[in-house]
Amino acid sequence: MILVLDFGSQYTQLIARKVRSLNVYAEIVPFNISVDKIRLRRPAGLILSGGPASVVEKGAPIVPHAIFNLGIPILGICYGMQLMTHLLGGRVTRGDIREYGRVEMRVCHGDALFTGVPEHSDVWMSHGDSVLNLPMGFKRVATSPDCPAIAIRHRSRPLFGLQFHPEVHHTKYGRTILKNFATRICGERRSWRMKDFIERTIEDLQKQTDGRGVLCAVSGGVDSTVLAVLLHRAIGNRLKCVFVDNGLLRENEAQTVLERFRRLRVPVRFIDASKLFLSGLKSIIEPEEKRRIIGRDFVEVFLHELGDMDFLAQGTLYPDVIESISVRGPSATIKTHHNRVKEILKLGAEGRLVEPLKELFKDEVRLVGRELGIPDEILWRQPFPGPGLAVRIIGEITAERLAILRKADAILMEEIKEARLYKKIWQSFCVLLPIQSVGVMGDERTYDHVIAIRAVRSVDGMTADWVHLPEKLLAHISNRIINEVKGINRVVYDISSKPPSTIEWE
Ligand code: XMP
Repeated sequence: MILVLDFGSQYTQLIARKVRSLNVYAEIVPFNISVDKIRLRRPAGLILSGGPASVVEKGAPIVPHAIFNLGIPILGICYGMQLMTHLLGGRVTRGDIREYGRVEMRVCHGDALFTGVPEHSDVWMSHGDSVLNLPMGFKRVATSPDCPAIAIRHRSRPLFGLQFHPEVHHTKYGRTILKNFATRICGERRSWRMKDFIERTIEDLQKQTDGRGVLCAVSGGVDSTVLAVLLHRAIGNRLKCVFVDNGLLRENEAQTVLERFRRLRVPVRFIDASKLFLSGLKSIIEPEEKRRIIGRDFVEVFLHELGDMDFLAQGTLYPDVIESISVRGPSATIKTHHNRVKEILKLGAEGRLVEPLKELFKDEVRLVGRELGIPDEILWRQPFPGPGLAVRIIGEITAERLAILRKADAILMEEIKEARLYKKIWQSFCVLLPIQSVGVMGDERTYDHVIAIRAVRSVDGMTADWVHLPEKLLAHISNRIINEVKGINRVVYDISSKPPSTIEWE
């Protein structure tokens, strides 16, 4: 077993998940776990995660020096490497070299950690601080054009540090590096399986709900569908599913979702709450304010539906949690996800929240869904955020602007599907911008709105790369949107990756 000490990185769970995908069990523990507790767990190795703090600042989270004397291998990632450097007598500096995104790594010394990794490969960076002087006894194993030491190790002891993130998909040989650490360095055998996740979760759900009723809000997306089917298996008709139309859905979305649930034979009640949501959002432009209002209105609807039922179930996944609050560690808030608002967290504190998927990532949920017999058309539906089109209309949300965005988005979807790209892309969607620009249609001057197209490739939503859509396809989509959607005279393409951008614009 590998223990991952969490310093609050948004990628911590990804480390554990990547190690588990190698069939080696990994568990996350808080960074301030005592050395005695670590010893009791008898891990084969430790991974120190990244985190938003800086080791050179006062109050930065640290570990006792004694963990380096446990005699087990330790891998420090990003903040974890800087911490290891700092505690073992090396020097870390602030902000001299900042690297975000893709960087080319050159392995300069062969090492067990880099077995099977070519001399040159791409790695993913997200750091402001860097290691200036290595601690005594350490040597540099790999470099990048801007950073002399992006991988280090102790000459004789099993202590390793990586400045980049091997756990994110965009580090090409990240999985190999983690596999080397778990197997070659920690000596773990790859015998752990995840196949009993469903049985264990069904048992847990039965125990947790103990004969009482559960309300489950479904959106038609992968997560809540898997959740509903899982719950239906576990507790049958003690489950009440609702689908809330918040007025921020895409074209024909409600009908499609309800039809799919009919086919899955899971009963769902339709609630039209569009007036409530849209009136609350009137004149609101600030993104976090929009998210707060939507969260609040969802809660109002859910609590009303909950009545005297005991539990509310949510298809919350790990990225929703980690980007919203500090889970066991000091992670920075990036966006408040609609299902992590105060009232929902209060239900959680009362033990009335059922979130069995919250440790999982999207690709893991799809695997669970496949085991449950859910058809591919649902499992491979692109993610759609809970706050819906509200976070894709930059600026004020009005009926007119919603209609424009729905129309443009439907065209984009149609074309992406037609080009057989829908399943290959994590998300493709339109964003309506809060500006107007001058155009000419026929002999007329126009002063109309701008649509931005976003298409990203991702494995888990934590990092993403913009997709190089074929030029011909982009031209066709742009033509169609400008010709068919009244009020649009310009289409632009978003060419930003995450980080440093996010997938949704708000
Ligand atoms: P960002 O924009 O944070 O998005 O890079 C990462 C993934 O999460 C989705 N997303 C949400 N999903 N509630 C959700 O259920 C939300 O409030 C929310 N905000 C973003 C987003 O579509 C992307 O897949």
